[in-house]
This record gives sequence, C-alpha cells and structure tokens, in this order.
Amino acid sequence: MRLLVTGGAGFIGANFVQQTVRERPDVTVTVLDALTYAGDEASLAPVADAVTFVRGDVADADVVDPLVRDADVVVHFAAESHNDNSLSDPWPFVRTNVVGTYTLLEAVRRHGTRYHHISTDEVYGDLELDDPAKFTPTTPYNPSSPYSSTKASSDLLVRAWARSFGVAATISNCSNNYGPYQHVEKFIPRQVTNVIDGVRPKLYGSGANVRDWIHVEDHNAAVWAIVERGRIGETYLIGADGEVDNRTVVETVLELMGRPRDAYDLVADRPGHDLRYAIDASRTREELGWTPRYRSFREGLAATIAWYQENEAWWRPRKAATEARYAQLGR
Ligand code: NAD
Ligand code: TYD
Repeated sequence: MRLLVTGGAGFIGANFVQQTVRERPDVTVTVLDALTYAGDEASLAPVADAVTFVRGDVADADVVDPLVRDADVVVHFAAESHNDNSLSDPWPFVRTNVVGTYTLLEAVRRHGTRYHHISTDEVYGDLELDDPAKFTPTTPYNPSSPYSSTKASSDLLVRAWARSFGVAATISNCSNNYGPYQHVEKFIPRQVTNVIDGVRPKLYGSGANVRDWIHVEDHNAAVWAIVERGRIGETYLIGADGEVDNRTVVETVLELMGRPRDAYDLVADRPGHDLRYAIDASRTREELGWTPRYRSFREGLAATIAWYQENEAWWRPRKAATEARYAQLGR
C-alpha cells in the first residue's frame, strides 16, 4: 500500500507514521506537511529513513495532485489544531482546515484514491456536566469555536464529496489525545513542562471542564481499523471512556511529579469554553473490533510525563515563544 499522510510532522500524524513504519512493513509512507509552528521533522527522526518527506501546503493543488495520484490511500491529519489560536486569528484555520480539505477532496476525486478524514468530537459542540448523554455518529453538528467550526465545515465537505461524487471516504471524530510529541501549547504538555520549569500549572476558569482523554496510540489503531475495515461513507467516533475534569488532570500531574496537588493557579477562562465532551464509541468497537489498549489514564499520563522529562531537547525550543503568547492573553 502506498500511503500519503498529511500533517505527519504534527502530534498525532507523527505518532501514526511511527506506528505504521514499526508495524506495517508492507506500507510505503509519504508525508506531506507544511512545517508550520506546530510541525517538527524531529518528530519523525526515528523513522526518517523509511519515510519520504515532502514539505508543502495541503491547500496548494499543484503540490497535492501528483502526491494523491501516486497514493492508494490518503489519511488527512493536517490542520490548524489549537482552539486558543483560532480565537486570536481564525484565518489560517479557514484556509488550512476548509480550503486544504477541499483541495485534497478534489484530488482524490480526480484520481479515485481512498480517503480517510481525521476530525474531532468538538464538531458536536459541548454537553452539560450532569448530562448522561454522549456524542454518537448521529449527534447534530453544533461547533463553538473557529477551530471546531472549520473542522465541522471540512467534515461536511467530505460527506458531500462522498455522496455527490462517490469519493471513497470515511471520517473519524476523536476525543482529546495525549501522549508523546504533543506541542507544549496543549493542556497536558503545557502543565508538565511548566512543572519541570518550576512554574505553577494554569487552569482556565474553575477547572470543572471535562475532556474525554484517549492515548494517541489507541486513536491511531482505530484509524487503521477504519482504513482497513470501515464502511465507505461512514463516520466513526473514537474515544476510550476517559472522561476527567481539568482540575483532576492538573492535580494528578502534580502528584505524579512529586508536587503538592494544590500547587496550581486559576487563570482567565477561554471565551466560549466548551464545558464537556464525551464519546460513545460503540459503533467503532462493535463493527471494527477495536478496543483501546491504554486502560488507565493515570498510567498513560505517567508514561507521557516521563517522555517529556526524557525529551527536553524536543520541546524546549518551542516553550518560551508559547508561554509568551499565553502571557499576552493573560493565561
Ligand atoms: P498538530 O497541530 O500537532 O499538527 C498539525 C500538523 O499539520 C503540523 O505538522 C503542521 O505543520 C501541519 N499543517 C498545518 N497546516 C498545514 C498545511 N496548510 N499544509 C500542510 N500541513 C499543515 O495537530 P494534531 O493534534 O496532531 O491534530 C491532527 C489532526 O487530528 C487534526 O486534524 C485535528 O483536528 C485532529 N484531532 C486532534 C485531536 C487532539 O486531541 N489533538 C483530537 C481529535 C482530532
Ligand atoms: P486543549 O489541550 O487546548 O484542548 P481542547 O481545547 O481541544 O479541549 O485544552 C484542554 C482543556 O484544558 C480545555 O478545557 C482547556 C483547558 N486548558 C487549561 O485549563 N489550561 C491551559 O493552559 C490550557 C492550554 C488548556
């Protein structure tokens, strides 16, 4: 199989490429990545010899077309991915997430290439803290932020291209990922690296917001199950029943790093901050036989903390600029 991975130098994409090279010697991998502030070729260093890397923009049809022509399958991870950035400057989100997806869809339509679209549970909006409901594949779209609205837009393009043009597409909407190679702007790496630097973790608002955490390797195993066994035109939700409120995440990070559990600060809330996400992944489990391997969030978190402690050379170059951006926001 000739596989084109967009966004393969980002957090989830790099883990996907590394897992694929390790576990699937029959797959030839090409990565297309623009190396924005969020991309890092160093995240592919362990498999660099086994991967063809192309630096380029998913919204550039001249770059995308020949790569899609020469692939059997495209897995599209590339995106602007951070809610806080989307509130400061939405345009790159519209361009990459919407126009980039459109550009890829037109290419897979021309060449008849199988396409898998990586998306987020944030397209469904948020749930009340005490609501027993979880997101399912039929939950109506109701995105809150520029980030989630551009991801929702891209999902709708995929659905339309599948129905109107017969594009062989599948979509997955996953909950919050954690694990190695995640940018230090995101919640867990930001707090872990703050603690390493002797800085107190920063919780938005009251810290009551809930995210449904899944280890990145479990997400990527589900993506492979969909690529291999998913029904064309379908949407699959990926989640590991990992609901934890932000305050508990920070307290657990502090405890695992040998600090007092209350050594954090509350800071200004994110505007429009989604309260809670929760995934019902029964279709993905029952239809594809996928189950998450990381059973305990605490153990996965401990392993992730150890990775950041051991890989300071990877994250250090981005830390100061990231914190400078947060300082401007008062967070
Ligand atoms: P990330 O920000 O770590 O990586 C994004 C990658 O895309 C980077 O390598 C960047 O250089 C590249 N990129 C950005 N714009 C590009 C462009 N125009 N052309 C080519 N490459 C470009 O993001 P991530 O957390 O790895 O997320 C990957 C995908 O998974 C995204 O589609 C995101 O919406 C989705 N997702 C993420 C999460 C999560 O918890 N992180 C959860 C569910 C879904
Ligand atoms: P984030 O990693 O940005 O992911 P998302 O917005 O896609 O869920 O944030 C996860 C949660 O953590 C979210 O509720 C916002 C919160 N948060 C903080 O409390 N402090 C922080 O410093 C950051 C970056 C996020």
